[in-house]
Amino acid sequence: MTDEELRNLISQTLTCRIDQRENCNEKMTKFLKRCFYHSGQYNNVDDFLKLDSKLIKEEEGRLSNRLFYLSIPPNLFVDVAKCASTKASSKTGWTRVIVEKPFGRDLESSKQLSTSLKQYLTEDQIFRIDHYLGKEIVENLIVLRFSNLVFEPLWSRNYIRNVQFIFSEDFGTEGRGGYFDNYGIIRDIMQNHLLQTLALFAMETPISLDAEDIRNEKVKVLRSMRPLQLEDVIVGQYKGFSKDGKTYQGYTDDPTVPKDSITPTFAAAALFINNARWDGVPFLMKAGKALNKRRAEIRVQFRHVPGNLYKRSFGTDLDKATNELVLRIQPNEAIYLKINNKVPGLGMRLDRSDLNLLYKAKYRKEIPDAYERLLLDAIGGEQRLFIRSDELDAAWPLFTPLLKELEEKRISPELYPYGSRGPVGAHYLAAKHNVRWGDLNEDDS
Ligand code: BG6
Repeated sequence: MTDEELRNLISQTLTCRIDQRENCNEKMTKFLKRCFYHSGQYNNVDDFLKLDSKLIKEEEGRLSNRLFYLSIPPNLFVDVAKCASTKASSKTGWTRVIVEKPFGRDLESSKQLSTSLKQYLTEDQIFRIDHYLGKEIVENLIVLRFSNLVFEPLWSRNYIRNVQFIFSEDFGTEGRGGYFDNYGIIRDIMQNHLLQTLALFAMETPISLDAEDIRNEKVKVLRSMRPLQLEDVIVGQYKGFSKDGKTYQGYTDDPTVPKDSITPTFAAAALFINNARWDGVPFLMKAGKALNKRRAEIRVQFRHVPGNLYKRSFGTDLDKATNELVLRIQPNEAIYLKINNKVPGLGMRLDRSDLNLLYKAKYRKEIPDAYERLLLDAIGGEQRLFIRSDELDAAWPLFTPLLKELEEKRISPELYPYGSRGPVGAHYLAAKHNVRWGDLNEDDS
């Protein structure tokens, strides 16, 4: 590509949507002028030396900071980190490297990756991205918890019956089968996006909002968790489905996926935190591809009201009368609390209603994309929303034995039709822990 071709490519999607205050075109032109294309091999030191010379020329003696963003196959991380650090580091400012997941496939490979990267970079130069941490509602989770008096006193086994972390996509792995088949949904979504959200949800109050203080608390909660056992998990895989004359391909119909693949595209799991705050509370996770909806949310189900005066009004199903707090990460960001309410009128009928903070109704500003926030943080040297290596050391042991067992025993996933609500096994798993999935009762969109 020439510089011009690269600039054209970028300009097709470049916007000033977050900061529209003034001179958008001028800003874009100025920005595009500073974009250059340099081609080279990932592991070729000469190519990186040439990159260095080119950068020095453009920097014209000014203070220079360099941020390398490695959105590349994981087996190349170390080569690039080595070449970038030894041959193309900034001489006058900082050099940082953003690394995309996967950070290994299990505890051993993750540790190996950390050790190899640390040969060339210090921990504060490494920015491990989990883009869920950059999502608005996930960012707001600790604001909600720690800046409101009403939530924190309820945030424990005393009042919370169970917590659910739900991720679903209404499309399959189309085009990404090659990558996905080597990882599966547990590594792709649960071990990182859902677990990170869980850690923020369940951690103790940090000493301050500094990156190290928050990450210390996240590590503590991860280390208090019980590694997953086979009986805590169910796995599924989507199969082809035809509806209204349209055919949706199953996972193994993808030409990049082996026909006999047992890689899960769906999983549900029950996790437990062995500490004073959360002892005995099931933290349920559910993640799947090719389901009926695209959504990500956290659902907090509270306990029943003891000696409830209105018990008779709810019939036999007390679950329907318990408060539930929902943090909808996407689509349509919202935080709502389900409460019981008297239906206005002379009689005494009760009704369920939502106290609803729907972002698009309350805030007119467009919400930044997770990556916009995270890239800006990396440029600013803010590590709060990035993963520290000891978080990985604490997270992988929770999943590694289970993943090994699933693979060694070649446990067959339960098949579910493309576009369905997923395998029924997820209901049995929840029922075993006295839980009902909150997302199945309602249409919240
Ligand atoms: C990625 C996963 O990390 O997150 C993908 O590798 C998944 O499989 C994606 O589709 C979901 O991100 P988002 O922001 O669209 O919910």
